[in-house]
Amino acid sequence: MTQDHLLGLKPALGWNSWNTFTWDINEQLIRDVADRFVSEGYKDAGYTYIVIDDCWSLKERDSDGNLVPDPEKFPSGMRALADYIHDKGLKFGMYSCVGTHTCAGYPGSFEHEFQDAKQLAEWHVDFLKYDYCFKPRQISGELLYKRMSLALKNCGRDILFSACNWGEDNVYQWIRESGAHMYRSTGDIQDSWESIKNLALSQLDKACYTGSFCHNDMDMLVVGMYGGSNNNFIGHKIGGCTDNEYKTHFSLWSMMGSPLMIGCDIRDANQVTKDILLNQELLKINQDYEGRGAYRIKPEPQWFHTGDVFMLVKVLSDGDLAIGFFNLSDSQREISLQFWDLGLPYASGFSLELFDCWAHKNLGKFTERFNPVVPEHDCLIVRAKVVK
Ligand code: GLA
Repeated sequence: MTQDHLLGLKPALGWNSWNTFTWDINEQLIRDVADRFVSEGYKDAGYTYIVIDDCWSLKERDSDGNLVPDPEKFPSGMRALADYIHDKGLKFGMYSCVGTHTCAGYPGSFEHEFQDAKQLAEWHVDFLKYDYCFKPRQISGELLYKRMSLALKNCGRDILFSACNWGEDNVYQWIRESGAHMYRSTGDIQDSWESIKNLALSQLDKACYTGSFCHNDMDMLVVGMYGGSNNNFIGHKIGGCTDNEYKTHFSLWSMMGSPLMIGCDIRDANQVTKDILLNQELLKINQDYEGRGAYRIKPEPQWFHTGDVFMLVKVLSDGDLAIGFFNLSDSQREISLQFWDLGLPYASGFSLELFDCWAHKNLGKFTERFNPVVPEHDCLIVRAKVVK
């Protein structure tokens, strides 16, 4: 059954507990996040889903085989939490796994898919992130994602299906057909510039594998974390980025059509973090109705240009182009865009009027070419209008 025929049309916008809180989650935290979504403008900006990641259940199912929320973390139960979130006009997400166990060792949904889907529906869950740990080797992931997709589509409730197999097994070749609405195409993000850069570069040539109803999920955002995660499995806190690096990260994910799931603690987000996450121009580009992937333009071959300097172009539904000038290298670069590479020859008589989506100002009208200078680890994102 599907009442909402637009489920998954656009990349999901929301928040997920994992990046910052990992195992240390509870119902008060989730309620606080819901409150902040409303009071700090995230809801108005379009962020909708509040998702509890791994570590929410007991380590064993009950005698009927049902998953049991940890009563210490979630004493009021999941249905009450769903009601709280729904009362704010938001949607509620949860997490499970293809395998016998989740990545953190809690029960997974293997051979319990239909039972768990029914349970999620009873709790009024709207979103399921479905991980890939502890999968029996003799069964294909493709089949197990099809299984849960079918279970969700027949559980009596619209539940957005977020597959998370980290880009394994050539997932982009089969995931759309499975019924998933979004799919992780990369390993786990870390709160570091190196991680952001590597994930982005790994997806540059995958633009044709994202689109409406099945979006390429480049993993949750680390914007605003500044190294403040308890995801410290290696024994100490790691990471942290500069504000510019977070801005570039958000720009890449927005332009490339990834779902935007906030991963920081929004209860103490600073103004820079809010300005990044709530940038309306970027969100509009990410949420554009036609959901097209962004194609890459390489700068003119020059000895100093490396693969980490490039332009991304996303064709928008109103005829505008979103153009990103990305300099992921370690020194300042001029990045030269020749408009013929966009399909706009000089002979057409048309120019581009450019609006800077971070400075929030018009840059003016340009003909034939545009050559911004972009500092290291930074970017310029413009919305370009074709004008006479
Ligand atoms: C995997 C996923 C992460 C997170 C953890 C939870 O690593 O890729 O996003 O869900 O599991 O254990």
